[in-house]
Amino acid sequence: MSDAIGQEQRYDNERGARGQRLVLVSFAISMLASAGLIVFYVFSGWTQVEGVLLGLALGGLGIGMIAWSTDVLQIPDHVEDRAELRSSEEARATAESLLDSPGITRRTMLLRLLGGAGGLLAAALVVPALSLGPHPGQSLFRTKWRRGSRVVDADGNLLRPDYIGIKSITTIFPEGHVGSGDSQAVLMRVDPESLQLPPDRKNWTVEGIIAYSKVCTHAGCPVNLYRSQARELLCPCHQSTFNVLDGGQVVFGPAKRPLPQLPLMVDDEGYLAARGDFSGPIGPSFWDIHKND
Ligand code: FES
Repeated sequence: MSDAIGQEQRYDNERGARGQRLVLVSFAISMLASAGLIVFYVFSGWTQVEGVLLGLALGGLGIGMIAWSTDVLQIPDHVEDRAELRSSEEARATAESLLDSPGITRRTMLLRLLGGAGGLLAAALVVPALSLGPHPGQSLFRTKWRRGSRVVDADGNLLRPDYIGIKSITTIFPEGHVGSGDSQAVLMRVDPESLQLPPDRKNWTVEGIIAYSKVCTHAGCPVNLYRSQARELLCPCHQSTFNVLDGGQVVFGPAKRPLPQLPLMVDDEGYLAARGDFSGPIGPSFWDIHKND
């Protein structure tokens, strides 16, 4: 009887030792993976590796906690008849010396490992906050166009009204900012009598020459197709179509906002220039675009 109980006890001890090793290894893997995640994030930015390390950090922590809780919850009950419950003097002295020793107990060690793994994982999850960068401020609402900015084509040539043909479409930029992604616009000439612009935009065109942002308000593709007969601008990505005559309103497609219009004028030297920035924020809508739109 006592042999059977002793054997069962040994089995439980071995199982407990295995469970403890699993907890230790799992927490150690989680800590190493979290530390590696921080290092890769700061020095490499290799997102695939970061994903694997994050999985190991979370997985190691989870497996360790499950193994630990299983070990705690499965403490077996043993009943054994004993004639004499008093330990020998030698055993009592050994136990007292162990209780007095300042060594680290299994529970303390596991708790420290758990704290280390959890702390490193929290640090690894906080570090990406550094990528948020500075507040964009007004940069999402402003482009390089200012009152008096002269209009140039993609080669940097200044444009006079008589350079613009009736069926052509020209990509333009503010002088000194050729290639600026958010400032690019398209310029066309239409019959001035056909324009149906809002009253506050009556002087935004020059002899029927009109300009709109080239950045599609759906997902930001360049709007570079012009149906001169229909007076419509077409985005090739998802076929959003904008009416040139009535302020760039959407007539077809997934875009939800009109193309922002660039107010035009002629400067003292007879060149096309801007009266100011676009009529609204360029490009796709975002969460607080209504503030200035
Ligand atoms: S980006 Fe222009 S329609 Fe989608």
